[in-house]
Amino acid sequence: MHSIQEVQNHIKEAVGYIKKQITLKPKIGIILGTGLGSLVDGIELGGTVDYDKIPHFPVSTVESHAGKLLFGHLKGKPVVCMQGRFHYYEGYSFQQIAFPIRVMKRLGIESLIVSNAAGGMNPNFKPGDIMLIKDHINFFPGNPLIGPNDDSMGDRFPDMYDLYYCGYQQTAKAVALAQGLPLQVGVYVGLTGPCLETAAEYRMLRGFGADAVGMSTVPEVIAAHHLKIKILAFSIITDMGLADNMHPCSLEDVIGAASKTEPKLRELIAGCVERM
Ligand code: HPA
Repeated sequence: MHSIQEVQNHIKEAVGYIKKQITLKPKIGIILGTGLGSLVDGIELGGTVDYDKIPHFPVSTVESHAGKLLFGHLKGKPVVCMQGRFHYYEGYSFQQIAFPIRVMKRLGIESLIVSNAAGGMNPNFKPGDIMLIKDHINFFPGNPLIGPNDDSMGDRFPDMYDLYYCGYQQTAKAVALAQGLPLQVGVYVGLTGPCLETAAEYRMLRGFGADAVGMSTVPEVIAAHHLKIKILAFSIITDMGLADNMHPCSLEDVIGAASKTEPKLRELIAGCVERM
C-alpha cells in the first residue's frame, strides 16, 4: 500500500503527462464496459492517450477492452472517456482500480458515467435490456478507501447518501421516455468474478435484493463518490442468472448482447450528457 504522499505524487505525474498531450479540460468522465467500446463513436475526438504511456496507470489485460483515454466533445460537452477499464479479477488492487478515477478528478471531471455488462436476476428483465443503476451492493472482498485517508480527497467515512445521483437518475428516465426506450431500474451487485455465478449464488444474490450482477463498477463508484463526483450508471443485461432456469453462457454471448444494445445505450448516454 502506497503512502498518501506517494499516491499524490503518482496522480500528479499522471496528470502532468496527460496535460502535456491534451489541452481539453473534461467535465464529464465516461467508463465504457465490456463490448461497449464503440460508444465513443458519437464523440468529436480531440485526442487520445494510451494507458501504457501514462505514468503509474494500470494497463488493461482483457482483449475486449481497448486501453486508452479519449478526450473530446459529446453533445458539445468536454468529456474524457476510459476505453477499457480495470477489473479486480485481472489481479489489480482496489487502489489501482481507483487510480484513473482520481486522475480524471484532477483533470476536472465533476460527473462520471459508468456502463457495464451484467447478468440479470430480476425475472422481469431480459437480455438486451438497459438497467439504470439506482443502488449497489459491494460484494468485493475490499474497498478502494481502505488504508490511510487523504483528507484533501474526501472524507474518512463517506456516507452513501445519493450515491447514484438522483438528479441524473431523473434525467436518464426523462431521456429514455423521450427516446421511446424502455429502461429498467435496479440494484447492481458487484463481485470479483471471473466465474459467473452458480444457481445457488444467483438465488442468494436475488434474495439480497439485487437485480443484476457483474464484476466491476462498485470500486470505481466508491472512489468517485469519495471525491464527490456525481454518478450515473447503466448495466446492459447480457444474460439471465435465474437459479431455476440456468443456461450455458459464454463470453461471446455476453459481448454479443452488449454490442447489440450498445447503439441504444449510446443514444441514452448522449441524451443525458446533453442535459447535464
Ligand atoms: N454474472 C457476473 N457478471 C456478469 C454476468 C453474470 O451473469 N453477465 C455479465 N457479467
